[in-house]
Amino acid sequence: MDQHSYIQVRNSQINYYKAVPLYYQSGADSYSLYKPAGTSLPEMRINQQRHPLLFIQEEDRLTAIQELQKGFNKQITQSITTGNAANVKASLCDLVEETLEEPRSGTLRALPETIETLITGYSKHPEILKSIASISFKDYTTVIHSVNVMALTLGFCFHANFNFSKTRRIGLSALLHDIGKTEIPASILRAPRKLTNHEFGIMKTHPTIGNVIIRDKNKLGGDVALGALQHHEKLDGSGYPRGTRNISYVGQLLGIIDCYEALTNEDRPYRRARQPLETLKFIKEDVQAGKFNRDIFEKFCYSLI
Ligand SMILES: [Fe+2]
Ligand SMILES: [Fe+2]
Repeated sequence: MDQHSYIQVRNSQINYYKAVPLYYQSGADSYSLYKPAGTSLPEMRINQQRHPLLFIQEEDRLTAIQELQKGFNKQITQSITTGNAANVKASLCDLVEETLEEPRSGTLRALPETIETLITGYSKHPEILKSIASISFKDYTTVIHSVNVMALTLGFCFHANFNFSKTRRIGLSALLHDIGKTEIPASILRAPRKLTNHEFGIMKTHPTIGNVIIRDKNKLGGDVALGALQHHEKLDGSGYPRGTRNISYVGQLLGIIDCYEALTNEDRPYRRARQPLETLKFIKEDVQAGKFNRDIFEKFCYSLI
């Protein structure tokens, strides 16, 4: 019996694998080499699906994720150039999904490059990035939510004329704000009903977990970690996890955009999605109640136009 474990590779991603060897199942418990490290499968064979189901070895997983990230980054650049917003979003979601498989292994470090590509793309094709958040996919997941929050946040940063490095920091923070949810049980994340107090207590740990993953496991500190830690805090102290009134700018900004994105999408099956204008009116009540920053809220409203 083969002592290694193998993971099946998605057909749509085979073309990205060059550095990692690929294997096929040659018996009930045995796998044989199909393509050695350092070579790619010929494009024609991939297109015509003239290959068996392919696998990578468990120990190559991190290298494989890094190769995928590179591949998706290239794909995103290409789709921006050709003006295809739906493809940009699809590649972004694939990239984030793969990255979130191993967030504690340093995989988040490939994401700043993606954000840079998007910022550069915005100056040439602002219309693409404006439409990313409104392109909807069938299943609403944390990945799609995170990509939408990032797109809306980048829109805010462009509208506010933030410089490149500030936009990059805040955009990355937006993409990773819910990374702590990778460690919340799916039964709670996808519960088709209101959460019990106990379940909500567990859900409320995601900002703290996210902060640890970003800061300690990926060495991305500052704004990026603060956004994850503080996006559920409120200026009147009624938020979580700390109930602090002392919230960083990025924490306040992401609080508003996170709330807007979740309400305009059906983030819970028992809750209907709201229209943008209705949502803004709803959030405005929280601004008036002293929970959100008025200036940021107004700028956000204008950035949506
Ligand atoms: Fe959150
Ligand atoms: Fe969120």
